[in-house]
Amino acid sequence: MAKHFKYVILGGGVAAGYAAREFAKQGVNPGELAIISKEPVAPYERPALSKGYLFPQNAARLPGFHTCVGSGGERLLPEWYSEKGIELVLSTEIVKADLASKTLTSAAGDTFTYETLLIATGSSVIKLTDFGVQGAESNNILYLRDIADADKLVAAMQAKKDGKAVIVGGGYIGLELSAALKINNFDVTMVYPEPWCMPRLFTAGIAHFYEGYYTNKGIKILKGTVAVGFDADANGDVTKVKLKNGSVLDADIVIVGVGGRPLTGLFKRQVDEEKGGLKTDAFFETSVAGVYAIGDVATFPLKLYNEQRRVEHVDHARKSAEQAVRAIKAKESGESVAEYDYLPYFYSRSFDVAWQFYGDNVGDDVLFGDNDPASAKPKFGSYWVKDGKVVGVFLEGGSAEENQAIAKVARVQPPVADVQALKEQGIEFAAKI
Ligand code: FDA
Ligand code: NAD
Repeated sequence: MAKHFKYVILGGGVAAGYAAREFAKQGVNPGELAIISKEPVAPYERPALSKGYLFPQNAARLPGFHTCVGSGGERLLPEWYSEKGIELVLSTEIVKADLASKTLTSAAGDTFTYETLLIATGSSVIKLTDFGVQGAESNNILYLRDIADADKLVAAMQAKKDGKAVIVGGGYIGLELSAALKINNFDVTMVYPEPWCMPRLFTAGIAHFYEGYYTNKGIKILKGTVAVGFDADANGDVTKVKLKNGSVLDADIVIVGVGGRPLTGLFKRQVDEEKGGLKTDAFFETSVAGVYAIGDVATFPLKLYNEQRRVEHVDHARKSAEQAVRAIKAKESGESVAEYDYLPYFYSRSFDVAWQFYGDNVGDDVLFGDNDPASAKPKFGSYWVKDGKVVGVFLEGGSAEENQAIAKVARVQPPVADVQALKEQGIEFAAKI
């Protein structure tokens, strides 16, 4: 089969869903746009997979969380796409991209040609089998990236009810999945190599709170070591995790969250790359005219910090998609749009805690508020101060207004003369900006 579209979005995740909505807003004729995705379902809000999807009661399921509900927008059901004449080419993996002839080829041998391509392939998970960790192919050693992974995890939780879970990795997946397994009544142990959890964002003071909070919930935390091997029973089901420090943990389920890799392989030597991603301009166009990269795969100019960055979070996936489509449509009518001017925004929630972060976590950190894990209503945060200005803010337990205030601070970058006064003022400093 050979098909031609004016616009093709390669990948059917968060960025694809938001790009489709923007195309519809800007005006797209039936038959002009296709989304090609190896997943069997229309675009959905991926963050739900590590949160509501794993709840023991009233779990989130599709069609409940198709894009764009995660940002309070319209839920785009498969019917929405067919009504707009947008073709969803699902369960279709593209295995070859020839940008010179503007042709994509699927695993089944079908070809898709386009005039404009949006690459939205996102990330793949790093697996322990990639490093040849002994026994890492055993059953119930699980990863989480898509619906199929989440369904495997739900099935494993049912099969190993009230069992023991070992979570390998102390990043986003590690923290969110430890909580999910605990809520499902598993005996949970986290293992990670660093001195504290989520070191790419958290300071020691921030991590102190979450580690204490998780410990109070009954989660065991083993730091400074990694999993070096696994034992399995006669069925091939994992039974033990062997750690580098010599200890051995019993396990019915192992969840691994040791990072992701942007899926750029199809475009090697065809598109300029930087910092592991496909290099784009402020409109998400790559070094190849008419080829755009959005979401996790894009390394784009972060105007606020005057440097190229790649961001693996949902807010940027949504906004980069909208920016690219607006730029494509403006170009067609001889107009232009403003450069992308992104303020980094990350968040997470688990149990009863929820944090938000805006800006850049560089310079000196200034911890404020009550970060005692045993507090009835903990509320604390951190400012990052660089060259006498606040450049980043983290807040646990903030209200909607307070979260808006910290976003404003990170954008405005107010000067700080007295760091001690900033610490004492805490969130009040942000409220006044
Ligand atoms: P995304 O991964 O969403 O989509 C990529 C799509 O491309 C997938 O459908 C994939 O199957 C498809 N694809 C890839 N290669 C293909 C090929 N060759 N052929 C066809 N299709 C192909 N962020 C955040 O800010 N807050 C949060 O709470 C969370 N929570 C969260 C939970 C979990 C479990 C994950 C895995 C990730 C998060 N994230 C997050 C990160 C966030 O979800 C992520 O940054 C966005 O989904 C990125 O959107 P993209 O569209 O770039 O990739
Ligand atoms: P991550 O980069 O956040 O964390 C990986 C962690 O694993 C780090 O602490 C790392 O040092 C540790 N690690 C590395 N090698 C290890 C090993 N051999 N043994 C044990 N630990 C090891 O990545 P992740 O948590 O796997 O998340 C994957 C992707 O999903 C990322 O893009 C992330 O942004 C995204 N995600 C985001 C959210 C959110 O924003 N709330 C939630 C879930 C997932």
